[in-house]
Amino acid sequence: MAKPAVRNLIRAILLTAALPMTAVAAAPADVPGADAAIAARQTGFKKMGGAMKALKLELQNPVPAASVMIESATTIAEAAAGQGKLFPAGSGISATLKTAALPAIWTDRATFDTQMATLVTESARLAVAAKAGDVAAIKAQQASTGAACGACHRQFRAES
Ligand code: HEC
Repeated sequence: MAKPAVRNLIRAILLTAALPMTAVAAAPADVPGADAAIAARQTGFKKMGGAMKALKLELQNPVPAASVMIESATTIAEAAAGQGKLFPAGSGISATLKTAALPAIWTDRATFDTQMATLVTESARLAVAAKAGDVAAIKAQQASTGAACGACHRQFRAES
């Protein structure tokens, strides 16, 4: 009788000890510091850039592959959806931070947020068009999505 009770007690102690550790470990990801935010948004933009290139190339084929168009468009839409929250104040160009994010992002945040929202909308439409499979519609939507990229870069990204 005594042995299982002791075993249960030890198990209970181990479980309660493990819980707070999990909670603490998860916290930093929710509030990224400047460096983490910059790394995360640059990764997201690189993904979008690669997928835009892949889609453009595929659309040059006489019969573009549906799988490539869908995968590229979905990658762009998914990455776009997460980018807006990766621009915390204090993560722009400075002496110590390696980023191309111009100060205007924070002095004209409303315009920046509107342009990011446009990207989210246009890329979501691109994913829908890719799944529908009408190549002419996909091309048109790819152009609209590309225009959203360019508009924001002209205003808010430093020339490299
Ligand atoms: C609302 C503004 C905005 C939109 C929309 C936008 N970008 Fe950007 N992009 C930026 C900013 C700002 C940076 C610089 C980020 C940094 O260095 O911290 C950037 C950086 C990049 C980079 C360089 C990443 C690196 O560091 O190597 C690529 C590639 C890129 N964007 C591609 C795209 C593509 C493709 C789209 C459209 C599908 C897009 N962006 C839409 C603002 C935007």
